[in-house]
Amino acid sequence: MSENITIVGESKEDKYASLLPQVKSLIGAENDLIANMANISAALKQGFNFLWVGFYLVKQNELVLGPFQGPIACTRIALGKGVCGTSWNKKETIIVDDVDNFRGHIACSSLSKSEIVIPLFDKQNNVFAVLDVDSESLKTFDQTDAYYLEEIIKLIPLA
Ligand code: SME
Repeated sequence: MSENITIVGESKEDKYASLLPQVKSLIGAENDLIANMANISAALKQGFNFLWVGFYLVKQNELVLGPFQGPIACTRIALGKGVCGTSWNKKETIIVDDVDNFRGHIACSSLSKSEIVIPLFDKQNNVFAVLDVDSESLKTFDQTDAYYLEEIIKLIPLA
């Protein structure tokens, strides 16, 4: 396992493309979910310096805070609440250009201006977690982020 993440490239696409194989080798041989979520959070935070990167796990019909990198965050989110709860409910990736324009956005940090949330599916196609990435700038995330972040979470071995 490499000890460092090295991001090369100028464009966002090139940066993700250089990160993807490194994440693959980082988590490919590990089947512990929490360990893999922790290292993915760290790799994305280190690689892109996003404000907040982390996972919420579905537990007893709530989202509960999991491994993350960044400022302290809300610990529990109900189904359909905030961007995370909406992504879980709709079973789809949600990109928010300006969190102030998202009805019901949960402001864990007043520094967060835009975000992307991606659901993780188990073998039965149920959402078992979400990946939440927050930025201090407006309109940080687009379909390139959605594509590569979805590719990254597909690397996580399912139980
Ligand atoms: N912004 C999220 C809440 C989680 S924190 O940002 C870490 C939301 O509205 O779902």
